[in-house]
Amino acid sequence: MKTLLVIKSSLFNGSGQSSKLAEQFAAEWQKRNAGGRVLVRDLAADPVPHLSAEAFQGFGLPAGERSPGQQAAAVISDSLIAELRQADAVAIGLPMYNFTVPSTFKAWMDHVARVGVTFEYTESGPRGLLEPKPVYVFAARGGQYEGTEADTQTGLVRNFLRFIGLPDVQFVYAEGLGMGEEAAQRALAEAGQRIERLAA
Ligand SMILES: Cc1cc2nc3c(=O)[nH]c(=O)nc-3n(C[C@H](O)[C@H](O)[C@H](O)COP(=O)(O)O)c2cc1C
Repeated sequence: MKTLLVIKSSLFNGSGQSSKLAEQFAAEWQKRNAGGRVLVRDLAADPVPHLSAEAFQGFGLPAGERSPGQQAAAVISDSLIAELRQADAVAIGLPMYNFTVPSTFKAWMDHVARVGVTFEYTESGPRGLLEPKPVYVFAARGGQYEGTEADTQTGLVRNFLRFIGLPDVQFVYAEGLGMGEEAAQRALAEAGQRIERLAA
């Protein structure tokens, strides 16, 4: 049985445009993977805490030597990493908030990057330790940034995923959502068509 992991990071949970696009992709994916399982991680409904020094130091300790706080942080980190490992494909709903990724998504990144678990440094540089799998990012934005220097998300997310072993990343943009109803509807329709082609 195949598994699709859907990570949502809109403040507005399921009603965010990025969440709706990720859900649309999940529905298409399910049509093509009968019996497949969709696992949802909603970072607004169930936020990952900010990473603390205590938690970070605990990641490097054997389980038996962690403080209760370190143990709790490791449980969160382990479960986020286990979800990624289980998945055959990953869909991420990614709004642009104040020129970057949602802070909830950054907290997720901070708990997923674990030396010796999701990446390691070798003599020739960093090596990702997750098994490669396709990742689809549904980027919803009020303005228009694709292909410009102001697109601070695409490089960040692509580099991060490559770092942990996931180099196969495709972005679907829905841009200009704050630029009037007509522009928003056009962008969402184009993103929807792209999703149908992606899932095919
Ligand atoms: C707090 C906040 C900050 C935002 N900052 C930006 C921004 O920096 N650039 C931009 O293009 N749109 C910005 N927007 C608009 C969102 O990108 C747009 O509403 C998008 O649909 C958000 O995705 P969501 O609907 O999945 O939450 C912002 C929206 C909010 C609520």
